[in-house]
Amino acid sequence: MSDSPNTPDAPAQPAQRTRRDEPRFPDGPKPDPAGSHFERRIRSFQPRRSRVTTAQADALERLWPKWGLDIDGQRNLDLTELFGNDNPVVLEIGFGMGEATAQMAAADPATNILAADVHTPGQGNLLGLADHHGLSNIRVANGDAIILLREMLTPDSLDGLRVYFPDPWPKKRHHKRRLIQEEFLTLAASRLKPGATVHCATDWEPYAEQMLEVLGAHPDFENSQPDGDFAPRPDFRPLTRFEGQGLDKGHVVNDLLFRRVPHDDQR
Ligand SMILES: C[S@@+](CC[C@H](N)C(=O)[O-])C[C@H]1O[C@@H](n2cnc3c(N)ncnc32)[C@H](O)[C@@H]1O
Repeated sequence: MSDSPNTPDAPAQPAQRTRRDEPRFPDGPKPDPAGSHFERRIRSFQPRRSRVTTAQADALERLWPKWGLDIDGQRNLDLTELFGNDNPVVLEIGFGMGEATAQMAAADPATNILAADVHTPGQGNLLGLADHHGLSNIRVANGDAIILLREMLTPDSLDGLRVYFPDPWPKKRHHKRRLIQEEFLTLAASRLKPGATVHCATDWEPYAEQMLEVLGAHPDFENSQPDGDFAPRPDFRPLTRFEGQGLDKGHVVNDLLFRRVPHDDQR
């Protein structure tokens, strides 16, 4: 029998079905690399179908093989190998379009940023920014950061964690989708080195209160603020896109800066 699907002895095959608008790039980020659509776990993000611009597509095709990482949950990451040096590594979860990530990477080239998001246009945008500004200290991870933490990052491997303006999930029935919860913090703590900083910011005040409560109560973290309150906005955090939108609506922004406490046997 012929290999060709269109010869008389082989019935014509239906065109391979792809989800409309789901971008696919040769050697680029894979849609849903860990197959998390099939997991029953409640996720902190909603899959979005948004347009990838020509510039973003170009960046994804050119730069993904060099600076991209699929969160497939299949292997332990060697961060020294990933970045090509031993510099400290900070994980940023949910970088959006990545403008603030790129600014922080440029301001602190001796810190590596492992930036995770599920949003393809943002991945292309951040790769393009890294290329344009010559930032070799960013790696762009595609997929659910929970799987990255749980399956791919080894204990005590991270020097910091940044979560800026995570989806607020304002409706009560959606609160379970919020990222900053006790279970997430326990997982994150296991991957953070003692003394590592956790930096969160949000413009959704009820979520800010929840963050302060769960971080304040968690035995693996201590507040950098002696009064146990929110932190003044640190100069090193640039204005993010979502923050700008929140400020335009008159929202109040709160920063939280906590430290991973030493392990029990180190106290
Ligand atoms: C509200 S946006 C904020 C983006 C950016 N930090 C800013 O301030 O402009 C939250 C982002 O987090 C991403 N996100 C939410 N949960 C995530 C997860 N578990 N893993 C990776 N990215 C996630 C979403 O895709 C979205 O891009």
